[in-house]
Amino acid sequence: MENPFILSPYAEKLLFCDRETELNSLMELVTNGVNVTLISPRRMGKTGLIYRFFDEIFIKKFEIETFYVDIYATQTIDDFIKIFSENIIQSFQKKTSMLKKAMKVFSGVKPVLSFDELTGNPQLSLTYNNNDEKMQTLRSIFDFLENYGKRVIVAFDEFQQIREYAGINMEAVLRTYIQPMKNVNFIFCGSKKHLMFDIFANARNPFYASTSYVYLDKIDEEKYAEFIQCRFSEHGKTIERNAVDFILNFTKRHTFYTQSLCHFVFQHSKRLVNLQFVKEEAAKLIAMNENIYLQYRSLLTPQQWNYLKAVAKEGVVTQPMANNFVVKHGIGTPANSQRILQALITKDLILETTTKEHTEYSVYDVFLSRWLESL
Ligand SMILES: Nc1ncnc2c1ncn2[C@@H]1O[C@H](COP(=O)(O)OP(=O)(O)OP(=O)(O)O)[C@@H](O)[C@H]1O
Ligand SMILES: [Mg+2]
Repeated sequence: MENPFILSPYAEKLLFCDRETELNSLMELVTNGVNVTLISPRRMGKTGLIYRFFDEIFIKKFEIETFYVDIYATQTIDDFIKIFSENIIQSFQKKTSMLKKAMKVFSGVKPVLSFDELTGNPQLSLTYNNNDEKMQTLRSIFDFLENYGKRVIVAFDEFQQIREYAGINMEAVLRTYIQPMKNVNFIFCGSKKHLMFDIFANARNPFYASTSYVYLDKIDEEKYAEFIQCRFSEHGKTIERNAVDFILNFTKRHTFYTQSLCHFVFQHSKRLVNLQFVKEEAAKLIAMNENIYLQYRSLLTPQQWNYLKAVAKEGVVTQPMANNFVVKHGIGTPANSQRILQALITKDLILETTTKEHTEYSVYDVFLSRWLESL
């Protein structure tokens, strides 16, 4: 039986829970010529939302061409050009005329196009004689999209990665190309909040104030509960409401973890799913990851490990410098607490969330958090 709780970013509308508000915002902004910065913690559903948005454009038969470009693996501007081009080419594989037109963009830089035997994905190799040729190639790609003949939307996923390119101010380069474009709009997506803000909200940087923001938070509790019950019942299974509530609470409604536990429970369940069963499955799922969690310990100092455990046991910490937290968990001094906290945030082990009222800290990986709690 097909599992309706998918672990890939997106399959189809039916298997995607809610996000109507965010979807409408994207639709309104991006199709009206506004570029968007899309930010959320890791594994909350950014990539899924982009796919969902593009699918909606497809379903509604809008005259818009969409391109999804994940630049997570890029280290240089060369990688950027390569991945950007390959994504464009990939969507033209069945349209020979467009492919020919697209390939003209690279005529000066000895393009060699091949297709991966296993995946069929295009692979493009380009050879530049000098830096000018490289910059010209990048410009030509943007020109090609601008003159595409219909509206174009490009989503750059993990956009903060451009900060890693050595020896080039990639933001300045991209900004020059992107600013005058009339027919192409962009979604800049990322999970490193501080970097994303520095790129888009720091007056000293090229992209300053050039986009609107869409934030992705947790999915609404009622909507998620209904979604889960519906997916079970469509497959002839019944999950009790208190079992659903347990899942949402245990996974803190962090989408990836909620989906994972639902996937696991669905996989092993018979027709009736109750609270007891779900609790046992959750424990099994955590136990399966134990080896990975033990690895973390060897990568941290004993103080950092102790700190992570302390945050996990608290669930959420709003005053990490306060005496009762520092003393209760043997952290030493408030200054110590500050230092260790920063180190763990930098390592992506602790998530910092700012709300209107306060800033709060929690263990980023929800399952790791649950496991640490139990120690
Ligand atoms: N609205 C949704 N309904 C159901 N499942 C979802 C939804 N959004 C995301 N998911 C699931 O959650 C998981 C994480 O989503 P996704 O990969 O889109 O997150 P992300 O924010 O892009 O993460 P990362 O920062 O790691 O790239 C995936 O398994 C995806 O299927
Ligand atoms: Mg993603």
